[in-house]
Amino acid sequence: MISLKDRNFLTLKDFTQDEILYLIDLAAYFKRLKKEHVLHDKLRGRNVALIFEKTSTRTRCSFEVAAHDLGMATTYLDPKSSQIGKKESIEDTAKVLGRMFDGIEYRGYGQEIVEALAKHSGVPVWNGLTNEYHPTQILADMLTIREHMGNLRGRTLAYMGDARYNMGNSLMIGCAKLGLNFHAVAPKKYFPGEELVSQCREWAKESGAEILLTEDVDEGTRGADAIYTDVWVSMGEPDEVWEERIEDLTPYRVTMDVMKNAASEAIFMHCLPAFHDLDTEIGKEINAKYGLTCMEVTDEVFKAYNAPLFDEAENRMHTIKAVMAATLSDDWETA
Ligand code: CP
Ligand code: NVA
Repeated sequence: MISLKDRNFLTLKDFTQDEILYLIDLAAYFKRLKKEHVLHDKLRGRNVALIFEKTSTRTRCSFEVAAHDLGMATTYLDPKSSQIGKKESIEDTAKVLGRMFDGIEYRGYGQEIVEALAKHSGVPVWNGLTNEYHPTQILADMLTIREHMGNLRGRTLAYMGDARYNMGNSLMIGCAKLGLNFHAVAPKKYFPGEELVSQCREWAKESGAEILLTEDVDEGTRGADAIYTDVWVSMGEPDEVWEERIEDLTPYRVTMDVMKNAASEAIFMHCLPAFHDLDTEIGKEINAKYGLTCMEVTDEVFKAYNAPLFDEAENRMHTIKAVMAATLSDDWETA
């Protein structure tokens, strides 16, 4: 039996294939219970802290709804109203929160922050996104691919865009561990770091996956089962990088031609939020400055491939629930 009780969830690097699959199965089980309106609030009386130093829609709502469904109460600490990092060190904060809460979620900047929280709090800590990794997102992505394709092993995921940041890194790890081929399709300078690539190649050898880093869109996306992209400029990056990113990454936008080059049943994936039209403030600003009407994905692709995309967003909640449940208790069945 797999038990993840008392473990942190900081990066998928720390988890075996079986452990990751266990979390995905547990999420699918919770999803069934939720759809059937079966209560699963065994963690009544527990409390979790949700620290967000960057903004969020999906991740925050997922943690809050999931905690509530499990019977737990949440305390939300927003980017401005706590002492964290400004008046109080991460170590001291961790020690205080660890006395009050059964688990702590952190979204923010460097991975070392979430690691310090884990080291000093004495309770499970969950990474809700750092600059380097976004591991809860990958669980949702894998559950979505499995729901749409029936399996994971042997599938190919092509990631287009800035592949050296949290999403590219985490997808490469998740694919390598679970046996999906991972293609990073980007200009060379946006390839994931060499050290992580060679670590992932080791895992890929065991799982039977292949990792391809290519600048060639045709080669990288040909026959792929999932075409994945993310924003070109991530939270916390300075506005000055927009111009360079637009120039570098426009050839790597997901268009209908890209989708046609993929497998006939391919799905389009995006962690969201996405810039596919002018209905956002940033979309309008970029349009005024650079004349673009979309960025990483065309509106046509976004609308044509809408269904899996919003399953992916919904699955954030079920998978985050699985992470909290499994690390706080081992009293779960997945059947
Ligand atoms: N995908 C994701 O993490 O979305 P939010 O930034 O809205 O949480
Ligand atoms: N790379 C993006 C992911 C958002 C879910 C960011 O860090 O802003």
